[in-house]
Amino acid sequence: MTRLGNDEVVALDAAHVMGTYARLPVVFVRGDGTMLYDIEGREYLDFLSGIAVVSLGHAHPEIAAAIAEQAATLLHVSNLYYNEVQPQVAARLDHVLGGDGRVFFSNSGAEANEAAIKLARRYGQLNGGPERHHVLSAYGSFHGRTLTTLAATGQPQKHEAFQPLPAGFRHVAFADVDALEAALDERVCAVLLEPVQGEGGVTPAPPGYLEAVRRLCDEHEALLVVDEVQTGLGRTGRWFGFQHADGVRPDVVTMAKALGNGVPIGACWARTEVAAAFRPGDHATTFGGQPLAARAALTTLQIMERDDVPALARRAGERLTKGLLSLPGVTEVRGLGLLLAAQLADGSDAAVVARRCLDAGLVVNAVTPQALRLAPPLLVSDDEIDRAVAVLEQVLEEVTAA
Ligand code: F0G
Repeated sequence: MTRLGNDEVVALDAAHVMGTYARLPVVFVRGDGTMLYDIEGREYLDFLSGIAVVSLGHAHPEIAAAIAEQAATLLHVSNLYYNEVQPQVAARLDHVLGGDGRVFFSNSGAEANEAAIKLARRYGQLNGGPERHHVLSAYGSFHGRTLTTLAATGQPQKHEAFQPLPAGFRHVAFADVDALEAALDERVCAVLLEPVQGEGGVTPAPPGYLEAVRRLCDEHEALLVVDEVQTGLGRTGRWFGFQHADGVRPDVVTMAKALGNGVPIGACWARTEVAAAFRPGDHATTFGGQPLAARAALTTLQIMERDDVPALARRAGERLTKGLLSLPGVTEVRGLGLLLAAQLADGSDAAVVARRCLDAGLVVNAVTPQALRLAPPLLVSDDEIDRAVAVLEQVLEEVTAA
């Protein structure tokens, strides 16, 4: 590979890569735990983890070794045959989800949700007839960028340029039990929800909401599909975000991001009875669950179980929350575990603050015009948390003084 300078990378990208991203002008070349290093040798504290992906930190030695060994052994065979890694990942996922389920592997969060939506339609059709194919989701939600997951995403402004979208998707206000009840009719095959709306601004479901949704889904024979793409696998301080709700068991759970600690892999888990609606030929993917990605996922899950990583996230989340709340420029901290948003005082511009943080060596994301999203690796140390809070404090002082 040719080694380039910062400006050469930016120019080459502008000339050849589609302009779908408004990137910040930094080129990362190396990572180590919570640290990132750019092409000019500057170091950064990564409090975004590639959007809640690298939960065990960058270049984790055990994951790197497992990937290298798998790459030198077998990368891919297609799903026409068995590979020995995929069912081991499925078994571990099923275990942390309470058992009695089956898993379909994808390559991304959107594809995991596509699988869930197809499965819910198939199950609805078998149990309620062809009319039962509607999916209810929440305003402010984010479920992906494919046409179908975009239709499920409750942000109408993102829909406009791509009409017509697939039919059968309706949206209700998040956290509003009455609105959901009013929309639930015999046409609904599934209710699709994030336990914490991530991209929408890090908004947790209020206490009792998921319990009420579960009850309504049971009454109306609709599946409860929980999108754990961002919240899943320890990020919120439990294995899955829905586990913060009392006794709620979803019918379908989707995940991706953290599953491969940076290697693309997603999964759609469903209760066995629901999963049985898919027959051979109903759904498929070339790459999903291939040996390399599955090996990364298997090693990630092994480490998360061995080191009780969800508990580490819970404790670190408390420290980060306290630190953020101590800053005069922060008016509220939302979220669970290490998926947090710091709401900034009136008049502040989160994009400006995030950019200044980057310049000062801290990676965070402006998730709304006035809130920063913080999602560091779950193995982040106390010292790294304190350093990140100190950088943010400095930046907030500078922008308020300016
Ligand atoms: N579901 C949720 C809850 C997500 O947060 C995302 C992506 C997806 C699905 C789609 O996953 O990108 O792997 O296809 N969220 C990113 C974000 C884009 O900024 O929160 P994908």
